[in-house]
Amino acid sequence: MKCVKVPLRQINNTRIKLMSDGLMNMEYRIKTTDEFGYIPITKDIDGYTIEDIELEPMKKVPHNFAEILEDELTHDEIENLKTSFDTIGDIVILEIPDELHDKKQLIGDAAYKFTKRKAIYMKKSAIKGTIRVRDLEFLSGVDDSVTIHKEHGVRLKLDVREVYFSPRLATERKRVMESVKDGEKILDMFCGIGPFPIVIARNRNVDITAVDINEAAIKYLNENIKLNKLKGNIESYCGDVREVSKGFKTEFDRIIMNLPGLAYTFLDVAVDLIKDDGIINYYEFSDSYDQGIKRLNDAAGSAGKKVEILNTRKVKSISPDEWHVAIDAKIKK
Ligand SMILES: C[S@@+](CC[C@H](N)C(=O)[O-])C[C@H]1O[C@@H](n2cnc3c(N)ncnc32)[C@H](O)[C@@H]1O
Repeated sequence: MKCVKVPLRQINNTRIKLMSDGLMNMEYRIKTTDEFGYIPITKDIDGYTIEDIELEPMKKVPHNFAEILEDELTHDEIENLKTSFDTIGDIVILEIPDELHDKKQLIGDAAYKFTKRKAIYMKKSAIKGTIRVRDLEFLSGVDDSVTIHKEHGVRLKLDVREVYFSPRLATERKRVMESVKDGEKILDMFCGIGPFPIVIARNRNVDITAVDINEAAIKYLNENIKLNKLKGNIESYCGDVREVSKGFKTEFDRIIMNLPGLAYTFLDVAVDLIKDDGIINYYEFSDSYDQGIKRLNDAAGSAGKKVEILNTRKVKSISPDEWHVAIDAKIKK
């Protein structure tokens, strides 16, 4: 390696001069002996003593997730992984494709290093069962699955192993909240840890009844009610909404039904509990809106009511031809 040779006492000034002239080779370490210093340079320079010396290369410090993995994975594999990050509070959940499972520890450690979050988990199953949770495998950091997620000015405490929560629904929650008016009576039939109720009650003076069958979800909802400064009121119930709702003495201006795989099987309950001209925020997995609209019409028709579709939208993609869709429907006499 070409170096400028200088007496030791000149090493610092020469290094600064070479750096500021853009002539120092930053990929190698400066070498010193008792008398001289050898500063690596990028090209011959007049006015200095130049010598060819063997120098130690600098250790490369990776600056991002991709850099640490670039020797192990292809560019496309790294790009795919980057889109699989779900950050919930100080926890990262990764989806690692089967063909990269033998590198999961390396990927987990890289994610830990560069996200600087508390824990990295890997998805081990799809979301499943009545309470809609998935199996997770701990990869890196501290194996503590409880966190507080911040969204639209609210704090949501949850255990990622025990309850359903998706940060990808944040925009949908804001959209629904913005359509709510002060004074509404709202039922969230499948509330989970309460992201819809908390975001709505933080911003609107409303009365919300929130139901979930998962005890852990209701435990966190109750904590979240205390964690946030709410304008509205939230009352929580644990149990199957079909049973629990038999005790309700009131009808609702709005019913939120975010159980997209099975919400349609509860439409009869919702149609019974909605006020005339009340709104159902209905969700399902589908490749179109037609199926959901038909289900709403059928349920309303069976109760002698009518449906006016106010709005439809795709909330997120589930697979290449399936979406988590939202349908806002007014139910009329
Ligand atoms: C997809 S999660 C949605 C949770 C929450 N709304 C959210 O957006 O994060 C569906 C929730 O419905 C709950 N659930 C499933 N069946 C239920 C039932 N029959 N009655 C009440 N809750 C139920 C599950 O425990 C789960 O928390």
